[in-house]
Amino acid sequence: MVWERSRNIAGTAINGCGNDVLECYWLMSPIGRSSPERSPDIMRRSSVIGVLAAAGAVLATGVLFSATADAATTLGASAAQTGRYFGAAIAAGKLGDGAYTGILNREFNSVTPENEMKWDATEPSRGSFNYTNGDRILNQGVSMGAKVRGHALLWHAQQPSWAQSLSGSTLRSAAINHVTQVATHYQGKIYAWDVVNEAFADGSGGGRRDSNLQRTGNDWIEAAFRAARAADPNAKLCYNDYNTDGVNAKSTGVLTMVKDFKARGVPIDCVGFQSHLGTTVPGDYQANLQRFADAGVDVQITELDVAQGGNQANIYATVTKACLAVSRCTGITVWGIRDSDSWRTGENPLLFDSAGNKKAAYTSVLNALNAGGPTNPTSSPTSGPTSGPTSGPTSGPTSPSTGGGCTASTSLNSWNGGFVATVRVAAGATAVNGWTVSLALPTGSAVTSAWSATNSGTTGTVSFRNVSYNGSIAAGGYTEFGFQGTGTGPTATPTCAAG
Ligand code: G3I
Repeated sequence: MVWERSRNIAGTAINGCGNDVLECYWLMSPIGRSSPERSPDIMRRSSVIGVLAAAGAVLATGVLFSATADAATTLGASAAQTGRYFGAAIAAGKLGDGAYTGILNREFNSVTPENEMKWDATEPSRGSFNYTNGDRILNQGVSMGAKVRGHALLWHAQQPSWAQSLSGSTLRSAAINHVTQVATHYQGKIYAWDVVNEAFADGSGGGRRDSNLQRTGNDWIEAAFRAARAADPNAKLCYNDYNTDGVNAKSTGVLTMVKDFKARGVPIDCVGFQSHLGTTVPGDYQANLQRFADAGVDVQITELDVAQGGNQANIYATVTKACLAVSRCTGITVWGIRDSDSWRTGENPLLFDSAGNKKAAYTSVLNALNAGGPTNPTSSPTSGPTSGPTSGPTSGPTSPSTGGGCTASTSLNSWNGGFVATVRVAAGATAVNGWTVSLALPTGSAVTSAWSATNSGTTGTVSFRNVSYNGSIAAGGYTEFGFQGTGTGPTATPTCAAG
């Protein structure tokens, strides 16, 4: 697993981020860090006054306001009145707990697997996929008529050990294949996927986090989004991160990426704001959501939990009102149900206590939801998945061909209307310095993106040239590149020319 020393706001390394994953993550997380203070006088207002003020502000701007005549009595039903969802991260291992599922079934209309759809869970051995627990989460969501958020296709953490040991084009190919396979398995069942999780660095730079995935090339994120879109055209594709909850260097870095993706046609639909909060919430929380919405993506609160303390209920209300005030904020997910279910052991950061009782924070969220907000135009919270997962078609590799000192073979992951091809380029008895692979695409097929190679042309016979880091192949060695396309994948044997 790739773990990095955490840094505080000033960029100083925090000691003690050792082998304990949760401890290390804790230090990497925003909780407990200083963040822009919300005005104390605002924090002291009662929730009723806050709701009225928010309502007045919304009315003053002329946005359709949907205050509810009949207050709903559950989080999901209340959120649905403004076209939004209210969800929870859930664990497959707890679905046998009646108290847990009782609250889940009653209160929520969206679910996110806390760990069950991550890379280590779904592909424990390379090319061998296990959807048992992911499917349990999906089926729970189906049984509730809830939305299912997929979490997370690629992340520097919770990678299987085999992926942690890969690098370069081999890792890139494996990662994109993972995206394709998992998104294909759940095709048509997922409301929104966290395609890439936590790829930006903390601190003042606003740049990418170093990771094995980042070292495969800066385009790894867009390659993942393109592969996810091809595999599941109807899922909303999200980038998800923490410490991006206010306007800061990190969130601005993410926004810059979103604008770049939008400008270049890279498929991105939404940004998730984890919102693991301490005792304060950034004063520009809503403004931050709005600037992403203004860039043309939906926004979602994806992992909300708040340290227990004097402000917990107020902070929950502030976050809820912020989402309601942004028309492209499609929903809120809390990261667990009861305090005893939380990853933040001992902090009691959730809406239900360990005995399953509603806390003050619950009431403040429900009141805020019932006060309403502009109706979300894009969300349909009652239209969850209606059936279980299907399996994605896969074909085996073609036979390698020889030509000019190298050979090439293709493996295909295909679905109706698209494919991802992984091409292995192998050197013979002598080393290769530079290679070009040519592939004949069927009529009507086209290359839409390639990684770890540069393509010439997109239709007919397309040639792929090595990039700087994978042109040299040792005698007997190999490298891999990939490409994604529309139509039917290539079945003809590729040719390879060295030099
Ligand atoms: O399942 C094993 C169990 O078999 C074993 O006995 C036990 C021993 O420690 O570990 C269990 O796995 C743990 C797993 O949670 C399931 O409980 C892992 O050690 C533990 O590391 C893992 O923690 C998860 C954490 O991500 C890992 O980074 C938390 O549950 C999960 O809530 C948390 O979720 C992340 C989001 O995915 C991304 N954003 C931050 C968020 C909070 O850290």
